[in-house]
Amino acid sequence: MSAAAPFFRVSGLSKMFSGVRAIDDLSFDLERGSITGLIGPNGSGKSTTIDCLSRFQSVDNGSWWLEGRELSHLPRHAIARAGMSRTFQAVRTYDSLSLMDNLGLAAQEHEGVRWWDALVHGRAARSADDAARLRTAELLEIVGLTRLAESPAAVLSYGQRKLLSIAAAMMAAPKLVLLDEPVAGVNPTMVLRIEALLRLFRDRGVTLLLVEHNMGFVMRLCQRVIVLETGRILADGDPSAVRDDPRVLDAYIGRSAAGRAA
Ligand SMILES: Nc1ncnc2c1ncn2[C@@H]1O[C@H](COP(=O)(O)OP(=O)(O)O)[C@@H](O)[C@H]1O
Ligand SMILES: [Mg+2]
Repeated sequence: MSAAAPFFRVSGLSKMFSGVRAIDDLSFDLERGSITGLIGPNGSGKSTTIDCLSRFQSVDNGSWWLEGRELSHLPRHAIARAGMSRTFQAVRTYDSLSLMDNLGLAAQEHEGVRWWDALVHGRAARSADDAARLRTAELLEIVGLTRLAESPAAVLSYGQRKLLSIAAAMMAAPKLVLLDEPVAGVNPTMVLRIEALLRLFRDRGVTLLLVEHNMGFVMRLCQRVIVLETGRILADGDPSAVRDDPRVLDAYIGRSAAGRAA
């Protein structure tokens, strides 16, 4: 792609699970510095989209590029190193490890082989370690967990775990972060805190694509919303226009009615 390449482009992404088309020829672009919502009824393919793009899931078809660089053929740690990281719908923390060590491990996962090289070569190891420690301290400060830095992750509330996993996704200084349900199950105060945090990262230049069912959160935070239904784009645009789109209402109501009938 040329210098005029979009910040992020997905083209023709498809994924089947034993005959079920979870993602069906999905294509979209993201603008640098934007916050985009990816919404849709349960089972519409939101998590699978994030899993495929971050290579936590194999892909049947499709390509994607960050700043013109193709990521589709890279393994997951190389994707993270190239500037794209993610968070998970179900939070993943190492409960017996301190918050510092949780973030240190996240850095190792992102760094992959480069981190290992650094360990083998003493000086580089120290500087890589120092850099990771600085970044860890800075991120704990930003997410407001500094006073728990040395505590095991087991002491954290559910919402604080969400904060820690956002910090973990930021360890590799990503350009783009894919967030799967960052406020699901957290209390209203924490929703506002996470909202402010994501805005802060956006203001620092991180582009965000987030999956979320909390519509207030999505409407306040996103300039654009993409609606998925059975793995395809049903609507894409301004949040209020998408919210009022009768096809979107049908998709949600249709699903919940089917759910009640089942
Ligand atoms: N690991 C898997 N194995 C089989 N089917 C899956 C798997 N993950 C997702 N699916 C199916 O793919 C579709 C999309 O799921 P998912 O991406 O999790 O939806 P969402 O995140 O929008 O709720 C659903 O039909 C779901 O049952
Ligand atoms: Mg999901």
